[in-house]
Amino acid sequence: MFKVLAIMGSPRKKGNTYRITKMVEESLKQYGDVEVEYLFLKDANLQTCLGCRACMDRGEELCPLKDDRASIEQKILAADGIIVACPTYVGNVTGLTKDFIDRFAYVCHRPSFFKNAMMITTSGGGGGNFMLLCLSIALGTWGMEIASKLSVVTHEQPTYNTPAEKEVHDRAVAKKVDFAANKFYRSLQTGFRPNLMSMARFQLTRQAHLKDIPGSPDYQYWKSKGWYEKGTYYFYDTHAGPIKKGMALAGSRLLGLLAR
Ligand SMILES: Cc1cc2nc3c(=O)[nH]c(=O)nc-3n(C[C@H](O)[C@H](O)[C@H](O)COP(=O)(O)O)c2cc1C
Repeated sequence: MFKVLAIMGSPRKKGNTYRITKMVEESLKQYGDVEVEYLFLKDANLQTCLGCRACMDRGEELCPLKDDRASIEQKILAADGIIVACPTYVGNVTGLTKDFIDRFAYVCHRPSFFKNAMMITTSGGGGGNFMLLCLSIALGTWGMEIASKLSVVTHEQPTYNTPAEKEVHDRAVAKKVDFAANKFYRSLQTGFRPNLMSMARFQLTRQAHLKDIPGSPDYQYWKSKGWYEKGTYYFYDTHAGPIKKGMALAGSRLLGLLAR
């Protein structure tokens, strides 16, 4: 059985995003034995980051905020796959989801969420793909692999006039949902495999972390994992061939130039 944690970022618990995520759950269950646990950020006690940098610079255990952050981390680590489902708000994630992302900023420095992820967004008219791009950056830096993404325009003001038009719309949504769910399910079956972009990002962050102050939490973490060692191409052995490794290195140089 695959255990999936669905992190729900809408202030409306039973709104469009929940409805689409439930459709994804039903579709996943058609493919195999999948259990989905819902974590509603609206109900979670997750406070807004104070910006003190204690987690990043001195260790997450020194964060002054006392909330559900550590228990959410355990839930993420215990899951086989993660769904992050969030409506598009002004072209981006909701405030609830941004707070969630910021509370795990130290995981960008010391990646540990090596999980296949599915991203889901709903929007009234558009902007969903840009929102997913922003979300993918956060999830990717945590170590997650974006296995599947789904952007559904929910049309708060329906664009269909007749039941027949509505049926066509609903069928198109169901097809999209099923395609994305199938992709995610297959990733759960095959396990965690980084794509070229993830490997390039690893190289880029590795080069940055090589300049860390010895003794800092980041330096110690990266050293303890063996990620500074020569010939390390990813957080763990990927069985990637020399061509993919070479392309990842070249890609990291390009990313470095773009990120300046
Ligand atoms: C504050 C706010 C901002 C929104 N921004 C956008 C937007 O930029 N683009 C868009 O297409 N829809 C936007 N919407 C519409 C929602 O994305 C859409 O209705 C979504 O399906 C709501 O999901 P929910 O029911 O799960 O909360 C916005 C809605 C709200 C309340």
